[in-house]
Amino acid sequence: MNEQELNSFLALYKKETKQTDAWLERRLNQAEDPQFNFTTEELTFGARVAWRNSNKCIGRLFWNSLTVLDQRHLLDEEEVFGALLEHIAFATNNGKIRPVISIFAQNRVHIWNHQLIRYAGYETADGVIGDSDSLAFTKICEALGWRGACTNFDVLPLVIQIDDHQPTFFEIPKDYIVEVQIEHPHYDFSSLQMKWYAVPIISSMRFNIGGMDFQAAPFNGWYMGTEIGARNLADEARYHFLPKVAQQMGLETTSNASLWQDRALVELNVAVLHSYKKSGVSIVDHHTAAQQFQLFQQQEQKEQREVTGNWVWLIPPLSPATTSIYHQPIHNKTNKPNYFYQQLPYK
Ligand code: ARG
Repeated sequence: MNEQELNSFLALYKKETKQTDAWLERRLNQAEDPQFNFTTEELTFGARVAWRNSNKCIGRLFWNSLTVLDQRHLLDEEEVFGALLEHIAFATNNGKIRPVISIFAQNRVHIWNHQLIRYAGYETADGVIGDSDSLAFTKICEALGWRGACTNFDVLPLVIQIDDHQPTFFEIPKDYIVEVQIEHPHYDFSSLQMKWYAVPIISSMRFNIGGMDFQAAPFNGWYMGTEIGARNLADEARYHFLPKVAQQMGLETTSNASLWQDRALVELNVAVLHSYKKSGVSIVDHHTAAQQFQLFQQQEQKEQREVTGNWVWLIPPLSPATTSIYHQPIHNKTNKPNYFYQQLPYK
């Protein structure tokens, strides 16, 4: 265990939750025990602060409302699967999405998925079907015995590993997965058959707190529209829908200078926001999210804490210079607790 990081976490917890000197002394003594672990209260505080410290995240205004599900006692694949379904259901909340993190036993539970809900990708003779970001993981699922229907939007199974056992895959029952068909308020995009899922639940990052790592700690917020409309459905290396959207809009696509890509991009993003709203699924547009980020900065300033951030990630991919974030330099310093990338469990 990293003593210095543990000490600084306990000191932060003491300061922000107003613990006594006696409390700190007692916890530091207990930390000498190899069986030492965090209380659920400490873990809850740490997971929220880790969100507050997430430099790439524009949605941090809501850090203190994160629901933390302490699942450290689960050491069986079926039980972990059950807890992940519980996470999906609680977070989805019939569309009124709640930010949630589930924390599993450190060093023992591993989730192989990048997100709990994500679409498969298949390499075929006539190009990729589905999400090309999922090609490698889809192959892993197939090697474990899973077979997808080979549509553009097959939801991948959950792949769970305990200790050094063989990983096990579990299909998510359909009724747990809320999806939104993308339609435009004026243009007819129905022939494109675009859709996306309601809740982005990142499951590939480790939660680092007081020098300890929780490798399985899936967390979610709600989507910002541009993640879907300006990246997932638009990127050439993802679903590449812009030429088709432009065609439905009757745009002339031979000249770059007609800005057909930009016009298609705006209307695709209008369609995403419109469709989520119409389906009653939480989503935020990038202008509102940037205003919320500004509020977060003001709130943090009052608490005399520096807001750190990764500018390249914080600016939205659509009309970035219309947001205040674009015009402010921000210090990309890493504070802990935090969420970090980790090596893929496969490969
Ligand atoms: N950008 C990722 C995606 O499109 C999701 C990242 C987390 N996003 C969020 N709103 N919490 O699937």
